Amino acid sequence: MNDILPEQSPVWQYLESTVNDVLSAYGYSEIRMPIVEQTNLFKRSIGEVTDIVEKEMYTFDDRNGESLTLRPEGTASCVRAAEEHGLLFNQMQRFWYQGPMFRYERPQKGRYRQFHQIGVETFGMGGSDIDAEVILLSARLWKRLGLLDSVTLQLNSLGSNEARAEYKDALVTFLSAHKAQLDEDSLRRLDSNPLRILDSKDPQTQTLLNDAPVLSEYLDEESRQHFSELTSILDSAGIAYEVNPRLVRGLDYYCKTVFEWVTDKLGAQGTVCAGGRYDGLVKQLGGRPTPAVGFAMGVERLILLLETLELIPEKVRLPFDLYVAAEEKGLQSKIVLLADRLRDECEGLRVRVHCGGLKNIKQKAQQSGAPLVLLVKESDNQQLCGTIWHQDEPVFDLTEAQMLAAITEYYRA
Ligand code: HAM
Repeated sequence: MNDILPEQSPVWQYLESTVNDVLSAYGYSEIRMPIVEQTNLFKRSIGEVTDIVEKEMYTFDDRNGESLTLRPEGTASCVRAAEEHGLLFNQMQRFWYQGPMFRYERPQKGRYRQFHQIGVETFGMGGSDIDAEVILLSARLWKRLGLLDSVTLQLNSLGSNEARAEYKDALVTFLSAHKAQLDEDSLRRLDSNPLRILDSKDPQTQTLLNDAPVLSEYLDEESRQHFSELTSILDSAGIAYEVNPRLVRGLDYYCKTVFEWVTDKLGAQGTVCAGGRYDGLVKQLGGRPTPAVGFAMGVERLILLLETLELIPEKVRLPFDLYVAAEEKGLQSKIVLLADRLRDECEGLRVRVHCGGLKNIKQKAQQSGAPLVLLVKESDNQQLCGTIWHQDEPVFDLTEAQMLAAITEYYRA
């Protein structure tokens, strides 16, 4: 669980505001859910025999003896909230959320116990058009951030529950005949969650899987059609993708479309965004049947990627535009008021005022990192006059009106 220090938070704000712009462009509305939910919500949605529920949840009893869990993801909470407030029945909804999620995983680069997701969930739309929309939305975000060339879209269809059950049987029959070649984890999953074996990183298991039955051959007609419509929209939009027949995802609620955006620039934790369709979940949690599709991106991973590729615009890291300081004693209150006048004149100008001792003030102001520095003193007739420093170029002896004009001009430029 990490602190996000002041030096780092401008990068978070940059990412969040870029995501915000893109989500607005698609007409999505923000929803904010609590960080804690009843434990059963996650067990019933993510699945009892998934890694998350089996070993990664932060679960505790409250003072009433009720079992609560720090949310490990946002989809279940979003469905719970939307259903509880009557936002689903007979409606089409496009929501987004952001915030911390909690999983007791082995921490490593790109994998933390408290991490942050920005997620999108849509409800009431069962067609491939909305699947395409959420993928286009994410692609637009990568483009805005300069990441489009560094991420790859992996796509698969899990088909209907029936098709998947039939495939599961075929896979188990095949793998049971080759148990000796399975790694320990896969052996354990053979009974509990055999589809997850497709995700195994073990080389011997992977080789074995080359000869295993393939999910796409078991797809029902409707899912096949849905997938082919989706890929054709993506083709028309010029979005490149790889069909990965082994992509199954680690949460149980998916059906039909699943996808992940992955990068090879971050090492083992290369999935920056992942999601898919979950048409059965609302009903499973007590609502009426409601088709749904969504995704969530990992904010820490996106920031790591932006930093690795040096894609964070330089100005993002500047905490302020102008540093204002007095050059001589006794002017402090005037400086505070002058800075506020500057804020009135230039809406959005970020001004930091030097408070405290004036020793080496010129040096301190220049080391503040601000692109503009204003040093102020008083003229003989008690008017403020100042020197503006911009990229080591001083302009001396400006009257107050001239200071305001110069700073406004720099700021607008
Ligand atoms: P997920 O694949 O479990 O899906 O997580 C989505 C993303 O969150 C991952 O691709 C990754 O970027 C990030 N992430 C997950 N675990 C960690 C971690 N321990 N540390 C850092 N980042 C992490 C879900 O959570 C689904 N709710 C996505 C979804 C929404 N599907 C439909 N709607």
